[in-house]
Amino acid sequence: MDSKRILVTGGCGFIGSNFIHHMRASFPHRIVNLDKLTYAGNLENLKGIDDQPGYSFVRGDIAETSDLESIFDKGVDLVINFAAESHVDRSIIDPDAFVKTNIYGTYRLLEQARKSGIEKFLQVSTDEVYGSLGTTGKFREDTAMAPNSPYSASKASADMLVMAYHKTFGLPVCITRCSNNYGPYQFPEKLIPLLITNAMEGRDLPIYGDGMNVRDWIHVKDHCAAIAIVAEKGKAGEIYNIGAENERTNMEIVELILEIMGKPRELIKYVKDRPGHDRRYAIDNTKIRDQLGFEITVPFKTGMEETIRWYVENRPWWERIKTGEYLQYYHRWYGQR
Ligand code: NAD
Ligand code: DAU
Repeated sequence: MDSKRILVTGGCGFIGSNFIHHMRASFPHRIVNLDKLTYAGNLENLKGIDDQPGYSFVRGDIAETSDLESIFDKGVDLVINFAAESHVDRSIIDPDAFVKTNIYGTYRLLEQARKSGIEKFLQVSTDEVYGSLGTTGKFREDTAMAPNSPYSASKASADMLVMAYHKTFGLPVCITRCSNNYGPYQFPEKLIPLLITNAMEGRDLPIYGDGMNVRDWIHVKDHCAAIAIVAEKGKAGEIYNIGAENERTNMEIVELILEIMGKPRELIKYVKDRPGHDRRYAIDNTKIRDQLGFEITVPFKTGMEETIRWYVENRPWWERIKTGEYLQYYHRWYGQR
């Protein structure tokens, strides 16, 4: 494949940084990483990449035109927009940044891409835009959006803007909607790294409600590979669901983590449910599999063992995070539950 100049936004977060590692290992493309370095952005995630030729980092905001202009002026072939406020619970505490970054920021990025001209704009979206499933059925690309949290509503709004820029202005866009990711570098506010790191510290493992909510867990490596495939082969104006056909209740997740780590069940603590908590997500990934040849490569148990090992071996990485702002958030959210 020819070398392209790719603008990756939010490349210091969990999935963005894994994606940059994936791309640097597999393709000759030049990457510009634009990241605001919010609480979730961490330059440590890109150690070893940061001084490589063909990679550059810009600290900036997708909602700021001047930050975008200085990058687009040098030419951009492909935009992959990971930048977002991504945690549902924080969107319940304060939706403001979710509206600013996820909706207005995506709009500014679309405007800049439209003015400058690009080969493709890939919006990294989420299955949460579809809302919640009952005990049967799966999300398909033509399932109507029905978001339930300020986070998912902001992502659904962004998806609508992205599609409107395709229909109205002919911008070549693709949208990916993936299920729950797990793997290295995930911020320890999300279920799996929160449970692993709390278990290592001997703290309670908070489980919302009855613990029977279902998510379709995919290893971040497989999500990144799917995004690379859509970037290369995805058809303009199309949405691609990404999932691993790996539905698990939250109780199954916590029990697996305790089993792998050899920790006692007594650590589990049922806490007050998340308001508006979606009951079940499940992805029908027929389209990306049949049309673009995507395959899942990481078996869940192996992926979880590797992920737990990563958090055990990288204790300083998450211990530095679980201080200051993180502790304030943790006490505010979990203190009363
Ligand atoms: P994350 O919270 O770990 O990282 C987000 C990154 O975006 C951080 O580096 C942050 O500094 C940066 N950022 C935030 N606001 C910004 C702004 N205004 N300008 C520039 N950078 C900004 O998130 P993640 O889990 O890596 O998710 C990445 C994307 O994937 C998001 O769009 C999310 O909606 C989507 N997604 C996540 C999952 C999941 O399971 N985590 C699943 C499907 C889709
Ligand atoms: O489905 C894709 C989405 O997955 C992404 O778009 C989001 O960015 C990502 O955060 C994730 O959203 P969820 O809300 O599903 O993930 P989270 O890890 O916050 O929670 C997973 C499940 O675990 C959910 O049912 C809530 C529950 N949970 C979560 C936390 C943090 C608990 O029971 N206890 C907890 O402490």
